[in-house]
Amino acid sequence: MGRGSGFGKVILFGEHFVVHGIPGIVSAIDSSTDAEVKKSPTMVIRDERKTAKGYSEEKRLQQIESIERMLKAMDLDPKMPFDIWIGGTLPGFSGLGASAASSVAIARAISEELNLNLSNEKINSVAYEGEKAYAGNPSGIDNTAATYGGVMWFKKNPAGGQDLVEKIHIKRPVEIVIGSTGKVANTKAMVEGVADRKKANPAKYGPLFKQAESLAVAGRKAVEAGDLKKVGDLMNENHRILQEIGVSSKELDLLVDMARKQGAFGAKLTGGGGGGCMVALTPGKELQGKVVSAFKTAGYEFIATKIGVVTY
Ligand code: MEV
Repeated sequence: MGRGSGFGKVILFGEHFVVHGIPGIVSAIDSSTDAEVKKSPTMVIRDERKTAKGYSEEKRLQQIESIERMLKAMDLDPKMPFDIWIGGTLPGFSGLGASAASSVAIARAISEELNLNLSNEKINSVAYEGEKAYAGNPSGIDNTAATYGGVMWFKKNPAGGQDLVEKIHIKRPVEIVIGSTGKVANTKAMVEGVADRKKANPAKYGPLFKQAESLAVAGRKAVEAGDLKKVGDLMNENHRILQEIGVSSKELDLLVDMARKQGAFGAKLTGGGGGGCMVALTPGKELQGKVVSAFKTAGYEFIATKIGVVTY
């Protein structure tokens, strides 16, 4: 049997904009998806992840397409049958890179089961192929975080060459709270929607994309300097431009407001939006606890974790 895992992630700056070559900042979280793979006469997928309601059904066809794409990228028969178990501590909530984490986990497990000895670089590129089934035209930020962990600066090469990926040094791990709207989102549709609106309205979208770039650059400086107040302010600003490009939702805005009212340094949606999750920067156990209590009282699922803790 082959085994593998991949990290979940939060995006601190730049989701959606990264698809178009704007830099973004991503951090892995200490929850991962695990996979076990055995050769089998027929294809069996046993997905035992904790998920938001409807997540598995919504993603089922994309999951099958993703596995076929990955087998092809490994120069294997795309219809090669396996018995695949998927589990781990990362819940199947939209926005946490759960699809990328599962792609990396499955790619690693197949590599082990078939003794392919694939390097991390190859696993990352195979998982990127898998991500296309879920996100249409992904930037590659999610699979890169799922493969390597850590906090990273990511800039896609829109011409299709090597992406720019740099580790960001963070002074100490910082507490965050991830809040889930409980709504499953279709990343592919969200990514396509932004691309369509950008094309239709360059006068509005051009300046917003410029702002996103400035925010990522300022965000990196603030993260590296350990200036968490500044990081929080910039995250708030990032949420505002995500609202402007039409990817937030009523529930995401509500959770973001709730976290800010409790004193979070900053809060924004994370990932594709349109449902899924938000992230609040809550340095210190006490502040983290306050945001957790507010989410609990209001009946929302949450993850209390840290950025800057895990690397592969
Ligand atoms: C999803 O976690 C992030 C998006 O920017 C899509 C991508 O970059 O592939 C929405």
